[in-house]
Amino acid sequence: MTPEAIGSDRTSTDRTSTDPTSSNRTSTDQASSDQIRKAAQISISSARMVDLDAILALERGGFPESEQWSRRSWEGELLGERRTVLVARAHQTVGVICLQTVGPAADLQRLVVAPRARRLGVGSALVRAGVDAVRHLGARTVMLEVGYENEPAIALYQRLGFEQRAARADYYGPGQHALILKMYDLQDPPRMTEP
Ligand SMILES: CC(C)(COP(=O)(O)OP(=O)(O)OC[C@H]1O[C@@H](n2cnc3c(N)ncnc32)[C@H](O)[C@@H]1OP(=O)(O)O)[C@@H](O)C(=O)NCCC(=O)NCCS
Repeated sequence: MTPEAIGSDRTSTDRTSTDPTSSNRTSTDQASSDQIRKAAQISISSARMVDLDAILALERGGFPESEQWSRRSWEGELLGERRTVLVARAHQTVGVICLQTVGPAADLQRLVVAPRARRLGVGSALVRAGVDAVRHLGARTVMLEVGYENEPAIALYQRLGFEQRAARADYYGPGQHALILKMYDLQDPPRMTEP
């Protein structure tokens, strides 16, 4: 896959001032974000087995321990058929997306961006690239499950054109509900809509 440059149309000041998580960041995190932002050299490419340790680090930064995928699970994704696994790289690996395609239907199974690289467009770029990749594999729809209270992810998916299809009670465990979102008619690459 051709590397996709992202973030070059975004300024450092507007991103920092609108980031609701910035007050929780350490100065090291902020410095890393600034490096990523200034570099504007984030690229997206197919993940390989050498990326596994970096992907597992993203898992640890993105999900509570009980929800993290194991090394074996990720090995299965990297080696499996009909899988699309893409990583976003700046100086380091800052995000990963994983989709599975079966005929005309694709499932978006995992998306995670390193905390220091959030609100820079990395997640959106990964979803756009992932959807584009499965479209070329013949998918016409993409479905995903997302935690009912995962507002950042729901906002991202909705901005990219995913629509709510259903809700599933206790999907992730007692009291942990999920929304089922779907993107229909993958005729054209997805574009970000205005909030
Ligand atoms: C969800 C996640 C992947 C978003 O990645 P990201 O790189 O920060 O997303 P983007 O910068 O592309 O954000 C795109 C849009 O999504 C929405 N969004 C993203 N994070 C948000 C937040 N914390 N609060 C509100 N809206 C948010 C905004 O509309 C944003 O656009 P804007 O920055 O111009 O306002 C990231 O927060 C993450 O890894 N979370 C932990 C793992 C996870 O929950 N994965 C999804 C499982 S289904």
